Amino acid sequence: MLADEMRACTRCAELAATRTQVVVGSGPSDARLVVVGEAPGAVEDETGTPFVGRSGQLLDRLLAEAGLSRTDVAVINTVKCRPPGNRVPSRAETANCRPWTTRQLEELRPSLVVTLGLSASSWFLGKTTLGAVRGIVHEVDGRRVLPTYHPAAALRGGPRGEAMTRLREDLALAVRLVS
Ligand code: URA
Repeated sequence: MLADEMRACTRCAELAATRTQVVVGSGPSDARLVVVGEAPGAVEDETGTPFVGRSGQLLDRLLAEAGLSRTDVAVINTVKCRPPGNRVPSRAETANCRPWTTRQLEELRPSLVVTLGLSASSWFLGKTTLGAVRGIVHEVDGRRVLPTYHPAAALRGGPRGEAMTRLREDLALAVRLVS
């Protein structure tokens, strides 16, 4: 099974040595919407579930506002192991993990992928800026991809910040597109 193969992965020596566990992903295997983040943080590394810390709670709340329960959504990260100190994953780590993410997407076959933040968006679109691509549905390898802000950016900008407003709008669009 793919998840078991991922749990045994040691392609990144440092991450394999420092992780508590591989955070494979969450949600139903037939989810129409797949949300893709960057890498697990401390709480995710502890619990084994992606997006359960503050960013995850905001994601759940905004999805619920838009009419979709988190339990109906599949959530994965481009890198499955926590980088120590929550540093940004290196290019090598992202490349090492890429085949896992590709296989997950092949198995999930979602109707729409929402990418949270620049790392996840660049995973699909290549080098870009979030301002240029967010809020627009892109077609990548026959897949619909909707980039938006990372919830951590929305939290940093406060409840009435630009990132929060756009994230809310983009998630509402995502829910409409899969409903
Ligand atoms: N941020 C991410 O990008 N992914 C998580 O799983 C948690 C926080």
